[in-house]
This record gives sequence, C-alpha cells and structure tokens, in this order.
Amino acid sequence: MIQGVTPTLDVIVLRAAGAALVLDCRGEDLPRVLHWGADIGSAGEDELVRLAQDLVPATGHSALDEPWPFTLLPGSADGWSGRPGVALARDGRPVFPRWRLTRPVALDHDPDGAQRLTVDAAAHGVGAEGVTLRTEVRCEPSGLLRLRHTITQAQGADSGPLEVAGLGCVLPLPGTATEVLDLSGRWCRERLPQRGAVRFGSWLREARRGRTGHDASLLMACGTTGFGFRQGEVWATHVAWSGDHVAYVERLPEGAGWHGGPVIGGGELLAPGEVRLAPGESYTTPWLLATYSDQGLDGATARIHRWLRARPHHPDPVRRPRPLVLNTWEAVYFGHDLDRLTELAERAASIGVERFVLDDGWFGGRRHDRAGLGDWQVSPEMWPGGLRPLADRVRALGMDFGLWFEPEMLNVDSDVVRAHPDWLLGGEQRDWRHQQVLDLTAPGAWDYLLGAISALVEEIGIAFIKWDHNRDLHGTGAHAQTLALYGLLDALRVRHPGLEIESCASGGARVDLGILERTDRVWASDTNDPLERQLIQRWTASLLPPELVGSHVGGPVSHTTARTASLGLRCVTALFQHAGIEWDITGCSDAELRDLASWTALYRELRQLLHTGDVVRLDAPDGTDATEAGPALLTHGVVAPDRAEAVFAHVRLRTSGAANPGRIRLAGLDPARSYRLRRRDEAGTPSGPAISQPPWWERGELVASGAVLMEVGVPAPLLHPGEAALVHLTPA
Ligand code: GLA
Repeated sequence: MIQGVTPTLDVIVLRAAGAALVLDCRGEDLPRVLHWGADIGSAGEDELVRLAQDLVPATGHSALDEPWPFTLLPGSADGWSGRPGVALARDGRPVFPRWRLTRPVALDHDPDGAQRLTVDAAAHGVGAEGVTLRTEVRCEPSGLLRLRHTITQAQGADSGPLEVAGLGCVLPLPGTATEVLDLSGRWCRERLPQRGAVRFGSWLREARRGRTGHDASLLMACGTTGFGFRQGEVWATHVAWSGDHVAYVERLPEGAGWHGGPVIGGGELLAPGEVRLAPGESYTTPWLLATYSDQGLDGATARIHRWLRARPHHPDPVRRPRPLVLNTWEAVYFGHDLDRLTELAERAASIGVERFVLDDGWFGGRRHDRAGLGDWQVSPEMWPGGLRPLADRVRALGMDFGLWFEPEMLNVDSDVVRAHPDWLLGGEQRDWRHQQVLDLTAPGAWDYLLGAISALVEEIGIAFIKWDHNRDLHGTGAHAQTLALYGLLDALRVRHPGLEIESCASGGARVDLGILERTDRVWASDTNDPLERQLIQRWTASLLPPELVGSHVGGPVSHTTARTASLGLRCVTALFQHAGIEWDITGCSDAELRDLASWTALYRELRQLLHTGDVVRLDAPDGTDATEAGPALLTHGVVAPDRAEAVFAHVRLRTSGAANPGRIRLAGLDPARSYRLRRRDEAGTPSGPAISQPPWWERGELVASGAVLMEVGVPAPLLHPGEAALVHLTPA
C-alpha cells in the first residue's frame, strides 16, 4: 500500500436505475472494472470483496502469468495489448506509464444525485516524471455513466513537454456482446445505421472532419445477438465532442481481461503534436457517455434522455415550451426583402407560429454563397432600415425573432478577409461551398465575433441564433478550434442569458453532446423530405430526445430530393420533434393554411407530452431497421413518464410484399391501465388503399388495456406509401 493511500472502500458499486459499474479499488493500481451491466443488487463489503476474489479467471498458456483485470485506463505497461487508453511521448520517445494511486479513491454524491468517483494517480516509468492522472466517473441518477480523464504535467518538471497523442475512456464488455451497431451518413441522409458481428480486431470510427460529421457514429452500440430497439442487452457509448474523435469496439483473442469479451471506448482524435503539455498544463478528455440496458437501444438511450432532461439548462417544457418555428431558408433563400418577409411573418403568426427565424443572406455582401461570409453587419443594400423593423413587426405579431450566423466561416470575398487575411485557418484550404474557415485562435478573431454577434443580439433583440458550420476542416487540427468555439458559445450565453442557440452544420453534421452543453437544439438534416426525415429522426433519437431536434414542414415538393409528399406526412414527421415550418406559406391555399393551423394547435396540445415522455421505437418485425433502405413500415411514439398518455405514429415509407400489415403491438405502456386510443387526424387524414379499414379505425377510437395493446395489438390501417396514421392514448 502506498503511504497515505487507503481506499475508502475495497470494492465500489456505482449504481442507479438498474445499472451498475463495479470497481475493485483494492491495491495501488487504478480501479479495475469487475462488471458493467445490470445491477447486482445490494451486497455488503465482505460479499463484494469475495466476489472480486471469486471472479479471477483461469490462466491459459502463452499469456500473462496472472490474468489481467481491466483497469479504468488500460495501457501496454500493465499488460494490455489492445488499443491503449493513453498514448504519450516525450523528447521524441514513447512513454508507457504505469499508474499508482496517490490518494484513496474518493466516492461522493453530487447535489444533483449523481455518484461521483475520483481517482488520482501518478505515472511511473521512463519519461513519466511529474505526470499525474485524474479519472472522474459519474453515475447519473438515470444510470448513465460519464467518464473522463485529465493528464497533468506537474509544475517545475525540468523535462521537455509531454505530448498527449491520445487519451480516451474504455470499458470492458462480456463475451455475450457479439454485435456492433453504429451510424454513418452524409448530407441529407444523416444517421444511416450499420450493424455487424463483433470480430477479432477493431470496429473503428475515426472522424477527421474538424466537426462532428454527417457520418458521426453518434452512438456506438454493442449488444447481444439480435439486439434491437426494444430487446437484448446493449452497451453503448457516445463521445461528447464536436471536433475530431474516435469511437471503437475492439476484440482481442484474450478478451478484455477478466471479462473475455470486447471493449468499447472513445475519445478525442488528436493530430500529431496538437497537445503538448508544458509544466503546469493539463489535457482533459471529452466526457464519454456509457449506457447499458437489458431492454434494447431504447432502454439505453432513455438513460441519456433522462440525464439530459435533468440538466438545469435543459429547455423547460412547462416554463419555456419549444416554440413553433418558421425558418425562411427554403421559403425565400437569399431573396431578402422587408415587404416579402413581413408578409411571411404575418402569415406565420396567423397560423400559430411562435418564432420567426431569418436565415442566410442578411449581412455584408451575402447575396449568394460566394461572398460576404464573415461580415456580420446588416447589409444596408438589402436592409436599408436595418433588421429592427422586421424584428419589431415579428414581436408585435407575438413571435420571437431568430437570426442565422455562420461565425466560424469566411468567404475570401469579404471585408473581414481583406482586412485580416491571417484569420484563415491553416492558410487557404480547398474551397468547400466557396468558403474558408476562420481561425478562432487568431489574435482578435474571437473578440471580433463575440463583439459583432453580441451587438446584434442586443440591438435587434435576438432570441434565437441558428449557428451554422458548412464545411469540413482540412489540413489543420481541430482541438484548439473546438475549445475556442465552446468558449465563444459560453461567453455569449453568459452575456445573453435566455438566448437560445441551434447547432446546425449543413444539416446534422454537428450533433453531439459537447455542442449541446452550450446550445439548445440541433438541426438534424437539411432534408425536409419526410420520408428521409422519418429514418434520420428514428436514429437521431438514439442520442437526443425530441425537444432537442428541429424538424420542419417543407413545401409539397422536397427541395433536396424533388419528391412530392403529402402535407399529412410532412406534419406528422415534424410534430415529433421541435417543430417548425420551412416553406413559403404566402403561396398556400386556404385548405393548406387550415390544415397547418390545426396542426400547429395539435403541436401546442401535445408538445409537453412529446418533450417529456419516453421515446418508443418499435422494432421493424422483418428486421430491416439497421439496413440501408430501412423498414417499409415503421411505428414510433412517445409515452408519458407516468404512462398515462402516449402518442404513436404508424408510417408507411414504401410498399412491401405483405398485403396486410397485421397488428401493431405497441410498447412502453402500463399493462394494467385502460387506454382510450384515438385517431388524431389534425395533421391530415390518410386515405389508404382499402375497401374497408379496421372497424376501430373507421370509428375513430377503441378502448383497451395496456396489456392488450402491447401483447395482442391493434389491426393497422392500410396506408399508401408516404402516409402516416397518428393515434393518441389517454386514460379511458
Ligand atoms: C446550411 C444550413 C441550411 C441553411 C443554409 C444557409 O446549408 O444547413 O439550413 O441555413 O446553410 O446558407
């Protein structure tokens, strides 16, 4: 035992809501992970120590002489041959630290109810002088784990700077975790699932785009064979970071130490030389979220959603219900004109819109996407009286006013680049949407942005910023840029309490929980085509609850796919998120306006349920969920936390071979309750290719217990492709 180190407890169980992480803290090494998964029930200290002793596995030939238990930061020096949790170098030589505790492992409780474990250790080994580690593990009340490491180079160390080439968090899984599922995607087709068997080697996702990426893994999940939304054991992680990052599942023949299965982990992806610690400096990893469920992905993601919703700055569904938005982009593009936009605002207010957001095109020489980016002054050419007259009119109509910015980007043809050519990040990169990146760490650049944005927020009275980021970063690291961005967002929020910010990046290329610590919603995709959106939203929900995801009703013909969709499907699709409209509604027929108005009323009625309830995604019965085309028919819903109320949508995306879709077996309800299940056609009435629809559907409602609805199900109405049926369940 190192002097002064007496771990508070020998074996520590972090547990909440049916999940547990069991750590063996005996000895001088970093805590060893004995178990991460379902709760093991309460056990006394002696029992836990016995458990730790009894878990020692057999030793095979040609292996470590003693089986190696997996620590919270596995590395080569302690016998781990997999991807190391930490990669360090000094003076051009690798450093392989062995960690020794410097004080007892501390366990305490946060006022918010989380259990918090703090581990302090020092590195031993050649080149490791003065290097210390702090590991924090939080078990949130929802059972979500959050982990991060901090490496510090001590003050006064006389050796050269310590390079941190990699530092991440990793957890061991049992051998029953045999399948991996994560997401890829592209512009307008974000969140494309891919799944496969866990094999020897790595399923490794490296994001080198300087932003989270349309193809970000989002949630890397590993589970038992056949796991789905509602079934199977699942272990999943998310790296809460908006720059380059890595997420992986790795399996070695010897397994994850005592566990025998793969490991799952992730962290920031650092460019060579990007983090070099001088004496007194530290590097902290992003938080790695780790969530477990024995009830499929929905169970795992529910822990994340509950934790997000408990944050003090989470949008409050009662005090500040998510306002219905009208965004001008697909309505007018760069065609800014006070009269036209005033008419649009008036029309929006008349059908129940609550927030009017002026998109790209209001500043500098930005008449198209080749000029003006970076000149954050209102264009006198387009807006001779400034933006105030429009913003005031919007407020007089009872809406709040939002404005688009893309602060980290520049057009070379802009006053700001002419004045500060040195602000181009990494020199000039290959153009992407005719734009370059502004180096937030260049002297004066960050202050310019804070000053310019702040001045407009005050002058115009901006309630909401759509914060865009429309290109990947090339030829440069993203570490300092990402931290500077976070600092900028934090500073703006301090200056303007109550200001809401949306994270947009060519649609959904910056969807992560690093950005969402300092923003209020994401723009999930640039496609408003509801058939695409259904699938994008289905998988975005693996990380985010509905209230954090923007979704808009576009025009009848999608601007991104040229496909025509019914108003009903467009409305049902947007209803389930933070809803809005992105359509020139000054050209709508009276019937369309009536339908839109009844839909906005429905959104106002249901939004508290939608924005507080548990997300339920029914597994596609034919197993097509994690395929590129996705299911032909899908059902999803939201169930109130007390299970008294729910809303479900049943959507046909395309035709399929089965002539009759059979029954829909709902999920997430209270089996003992009696529900009235009612059609809600406010968003549109599906017609369906039927001679007769099920009697309950024709009648408009039925009454049944939760048990019947979940075990027996209800006959599905026949739907044409591109139609949706919406039902609302209330106590009978
Ligand atoms: C990006 C965004 C869009 C829109 C345009 C404006 O593509 O994702 O929603 O704001 O920029 O240029």
